[in-house]
Amino acid sequence: MPTKPDKNGFPHYMLKEIFDQPKGLEDTILPRVSLDPLELRLADQVRISPDELRQVRRINVVASGTSRHAGMAGQYMIQNLMHLPVDVDYASEFEYRNPLIGKGEITIVITQSGETADTTAAQRVAQSKGSRTIAISNVVDSTIAREADGVLYTHAGPEISIASTKAFTAQMTVLFLFAAYLARVRGELDDAALRGWIQELLGLPQKTATVLKSSRQCEKLAERYHDFEDFLFLGRAIHYPIAMDGALKLKEVSYIHAEGYPTGETKHGPNALIDEHLPVVIIATCDRNDPGAVVRYEKNVANIRQFKQQSAKVIALATDGDAEVEAIADHTIFIPQAPELLSPILEIVPLQLFAYYMTVKKGLDVDRPRNLVKSVMLE
Ligand code: F6R
Repeated sequence: MPTKPDKNGFPHYMLKEIFDQPKGLEDTILPRVSLDPLELRLADQVRISPDELRQVRRINVVASGTSRHAGMAGQYMIQNLMHLPVDVDYASEFEYRNPLIGKGEITIVITQSGETADTTAAQRVAQSKGSRTIAISNVVDSTIAREADGVLYTHAGPEISIASTKAFTAQMTVLFLFAAYLARVRGELDDAALRGWIQELLGLPQKTATVLKSSRQCEKLAERYHDFEDFLFLGRAIHYPIAMDGALKLKEVSYIHAEGYPTGETKHGPNALIDEHLPVVIIATCDRNDPGAVVRYEKNVANIRQFKQQSAKVIALATDGDAEVEAIADHTIFIPQAPELLSPILEIVPLQLFAYYMTVKKGLDVDRPRNLVKSVMLE
């Protein structure tokens, strides 16, 4: 039996693993990027020839839980950097819908453990239909890694706490690297753009360390909110999977009911629930260099005003220096400025901290929530 890593002075693995993220990102990014010569070093891991990659018509992403949320963020990354359609599935549902996939496609299977039964089964289905597969796994030589055509390891380090935290940010980072690699191979990413992205990636670990400074603020929020019974997490576009994962983290460790929803969908039903008893956590960051992000931001501001009129408590995630959101939300957690496609990697960190402190305030076993196991090896 391998021995568990030390908690490194932290009271729980979950908190240690949240704080491990700058290092996990650095280890995941550094070996794969170079500014001089300008390149992404993924060819030996992808193990599908550039010629074949240029013929790919569609990408499928299959995963469970938090790993699927990473895949949802990856969908935006791949479709944005390259013009290829991407479908995302629950691993547990994949074979039931008779997926119409085949040659000329890549199926990306994402799993921290590499042993999740639904995901390994989905990989076999994809392979039996002629699709190539690429595994994203945090465990070297896991079942999924051994059976895949290519393997992109996340180098987050061992994850002990049942709730996935550092594997998630590393998964999103690997998906971004793969998207950029594919775009490069297919001639859709020029030198200037690639250089810019590599610089942004190299800055991520430091920005993650900065976000971790919100830990005390998240603890104070937990002191204030741990008696609430329901939460709504909202995000638009690539921030929606982060809202989903913020809700999943909260429900699985604190047993508080939480739902993740696309912000724009609230007016199609959930708005009826929003009042002083249902706090809203809304991701309202803004990449001012991205016109689409600015439009979405303005909609988010209008949504926050509406929720305040309905007497809701609003906890907002906003970009550093955003006085407008700060003025209207009850609480604002600031996130360093980052491009729209990379900002999610930073946004999830305070939501992980919030879930952690809510659980500790409730006196629950944060590392081992009831009824859950780290690796779901039965379908
Ligand atoms: C949530 C969580 C689970 C896992 C899911 C898949 O915090 O940990 O939702 O993400 O069980 O596990 P892996 O990634 O090992 O396939």
